[in-house]
Amino acid sequence: MKRPLLLSLFILTAFVTSCKNEKPREKHYGLIADKGMVVSAREEASRIGVEIMKKGGNAFDALIATDMALNVTYPFAGSIGGGGFMVYRKADGEIGALDYREKAPLAASRDMYLDENGAPIDSLSRQGGLAVGVPGSIAGMYAIHDKLGSLPMEEILQPVIELAQKGFVITDNQLGRFQRLAETFEKVNGKRILFSEGFLKNDSLTAKKSGDTLKNPKLAETFRRLAANGKAEFYEGETGQKLVAFMQSKGGILTLEDLKAYEAVWRKPIVSNYKGLKVIGMPPPSSGGVCLAQILKMIEPYDLAAYGHNTEKSIQVITEAERRAYADRSFYLGDPDFNDIPIDKLTSASYASERMENFSFEHATPSVEIEHGAIPGYESMETTHYSIIDQYGNAIAVTTTLNGAYGSKLYADELGFFLNNEMDDFSVKPGSPNMFGLIGAEANAVEPGKRMLSSMTPTIVEKDGKLWMSVGTPGGSTIITSVLQTLLNVSAYDMTMQEAVDAPRFHHQWLPDNVIFEPQSFDAKLLESLTAKGYSTVQEKSVILGKVDGILVMPSGKLEGGADHRGDDTAVGF
Ligand code: DON
Repeated sequence: MKRPLLLSLFILTAFVTSCKNEKPREKHYGLIADKGMVVSAREEASRIGVEIMKKGGNAFDALIATDMALNVTYPFAGSIGGGGFMVYRKADGEIGALDYREKAPLAASRDMYLDENGAPIDSLSRQGGLAVGVPGSIAGMYAIHDKLGSLPMEEILQPVIELAQKGFVITDNQLGRFQRLAETFEKVNGKRILFSEGFLKNDSLTAKKSGDTLKNPKLAETFRRLAANGKAEFYEGETGQKLVAFMQSKGGILTLEDLKAYEAVWRKPIVSNYKGLKVIGMPPPSSGGVCLAQILKMIEPYDLAAYGHNTEKSIQVITEAERRAYADRSFYLGDPDFNDIPIDKLTSASYASERMENFSFEHATPSVEIEHGAIPGYESMETTHYSIIDQYGNAIAVTTTLNGAYGSKLYADELGFFLNNEMDDFSVKPGSPNMFGLIGAEANAVEPGKRMLSSMTPTIVEKDGKLWMSVGTPGGSTIITSVLQTLLNVSAYDMTMQEAVDAPRFHHQWLPDNVIFEPQSFDAKLLESLTAKGYSTVQEKSVILGKVDGILVMPSGKLEGGADHRGDDTAVGF
């Protein structure tokens, strides 16, 4: 699929040169629309969401259509076998957050991923039956529809059923992924599946190319049954029963009791203030809202705009704040239904300034010297994002995931979707890193019925009391830092939404004690200077930090979309 011309024209060097000559720089905008917009990982999904709004549907109807369409076109992360989070702001200013994160099955136990010597067996929490948490997405979609939707569910699902039936176009990015993983799909599933057929090296007769169409009639049938029977279809009806039988045939522990017990939960968003902006984020079991609020509070006293975008001083301040927030994440955060989390303290300005007391521009603070902060009285004991704003002024930010690419790689072929490997987001052994190198503690240990900690950071921002931005990204542990930089790119560094999304990013997460930089985007001298100060800088050829999608409300009231060129992401508006 071709990138919009506007994106191809984006040349960062021109931006730097114009800054040096102090001429007003030419800004590069993404798609601009008058009424409503969807920015998601796939054009078809964005388009289906917009069509729903054009029929008079609101952002919540469009959310359901877009989400379900991503299941068809973006099985890499598309969510029906996984879970996610939604943050919303209604036109009247009401805000809220929905948690439809997966849960550990009731038969899960703390040491289920350890060998007889107590060492983690990584493959168990990452591939196959035991890696799968109880899926939450369908419960999420129905909870959203019941509370906030306006069109009938059958009408919302109709274009999605047609899309699954007619098929989607395979992009270059997708072709590469299917080809790389086809053998693994067959190994994990013990047979050929829809997404290995024609993608294996020796499938020369049936070989698929980019531009070919892939149909998923089984998924179309699943959607048809959902449209007819509602939420119960997934959690106790034919779909649920087939899912449980499939999981049990693959060594999983998911039961019908787990499905029946699953409920999405409305939660209170994390609200923080940063230099006049009101940032509305996802609360635990995501760490996104808390960490973003903490980092923003820690960097607030520093004049990033004066330091400049991606300069040494800006990188230092942001990295050191990230280091401290991620150390706290590892210790304090987990499922709020199982842990007492000191959110107010963690996100307060006084705590932020205590945490930054030992920061110096002279040298890096080694991560070994940073522990979680002391809070008196505290008793310890491949993802995708889309943003939508509708013609009525409602806004949503949704991040949804199967965790790794195609989750556990288990594909329920009777039902047409992949199952998550979200169990790896638990600390399978407190202190041992998960697939994103994140270390967790007791708060995020495996327990039956518990939700695993997430980094997903769907975020909505208000400026001067009005809707200003909806933003988020996939990227595991790099989600929080990618959302942070995108927000700062617009607010501190005066970029458009598209420029903010496209700008090169860096990442730090306390442990491992590295700062990762996207390739070919940071000056060698800058990296040398940071290294001399004690930062361990890492730049690898293929590293991509996030695939951010966002919408900005411009001063004129028009909407500007930022769709990340790192993927096939596309803004569609009207
Ligand atoms: O919830 C989380 O934090 C992870 N399961 C997200 C995984 C992810 O973003 C993978 N995509 N690149």
